[in-house]
Amino acid sequence: MVRSVIVGTGAAVPGKVLTNQDLECLVETSDEWICSRSGIKQRYVANNGESTSSLATDAARAALEMAEVKPEDLDIIIVGTTTPDYPLPNTAGLVQRNLGARNAFTFDLYAACSGFLYSLTVADKFIKEKHDTKILVIGAEVLSAITNWKDRNTCVLFGDAAGAAVITGGCGGDRGILSTHLHSDGSLWQLLYIPGGGCANPLTPEMVQRGEHCIHMQGNEVFKHATRALIEVAREALETNKIGPEEVALFIPHQANLRIIKMVAERLQIPMDRVYVNIDRYGNTSAASIPVALDEVVRSGRLKRGDLVLMDAFGAGFTWGAVMMRW
Ligand code: ACO
Repeated sequence: MVRSVIVGTGAAVPGKVLTNQDLECLVETSDEWICSRSGIKQRYVANNGESTSSLATDAARAALEMAEVKPEDLDIIIVGTTTPDYPLPNTAGLVQRNLGARNAFTFDLYAACSGFLYSLTVADKFIKEKHDTKILVIGAEVLSAITNWKDRNTCVLFGDAAGAAVITGGCGGDRGILSTHLHSDGSLWQLLYIPGGGCANPLTPEMVQRGEHCIHMQGNEVFKHATRALIEVAREALETNKIGPEEVALFIPHQANLRIIKMVAERLQIPMDRVYVNIDRYGNTSAASIPVALDEVVRSGRLKRGDLVLMDAFGAGFTWGAVMMRW
């Protein structure tokens, strides 16, 4: 059976680091509060013209180099993002232009923090249809652009980054994506949303003054739904593949909150030494969080051929999903 295989990964972050101590100067908070409630110590934020497409392009170049794939050989570019450079056109097209990937078609996929796993799932379907399709899947965000830097409930949580993966059909063997699992619940949309800026509520100067172009979140409620959904979808992936938690070599969860990660891992009975955590250095980078983590894992040589890797994510919408793959 031909499966979708990740043949290259890459990641990029902006040049500027914002520490918890820096945030203490912006809002009434403390390093102790942020670390103990979220596990975050620092995050990267875009400046000097860095954008979602520029970070995505840097991550893509690294992934293409590892995969030894030329930009002109790409068939599809998908960018999972909530923070496109422009409302129009899509960010994937800007990445195509930057790379010179003239033979690819491009689109963005809008599923918040689940954006990379949603995009990976779509890519997997294309490869099932035509095995030698070469797809660049990117998760990229500049969340600092939609963060209210006066709101301590949200501004301490988010960061900017991009991660990329090159995917194509494997030549036999049992490597590759084993299963994908996606879910949504639109009835809970107002627990995590941006009130203004869309056609339902076009921005006015007064709305910008009130920060209505920025993320609004009921953190406690999001926490509860995220924890439950992440446990359920991970179990679904394990059961579908008849894999026990002890067989998972590495669990890469979306990096939203260290307490969520620990609760999910505990309920799944996956010990923390098999759970990848880098939220301390990046914060929550939404669609970028899983591909950035994956790139770190791959480049550090932590994964061995044949290892089972479980990834899961949860985000605004709500959207959530899991992907099980054999490395
Ligand atoms: N510094 C200091 N105090 C703060 C801060 C801050 N930055 N933010 C909130 N507080 C205060 C609150 O005002 C509250 O004070 P009060 O009791 O006087 O009202 C107190 O701290 C406790 O607030 P809670 O909201 O109960 O704190 P909690 O322990 O739930 O942690 C957090 C909040 C970190 C936001 C948590 O709910 C969370 O991580 N939720 C998930 C959010 C998330 O990850 N969203 C991202 C998108 S979805 C996803 O990626 C999964």
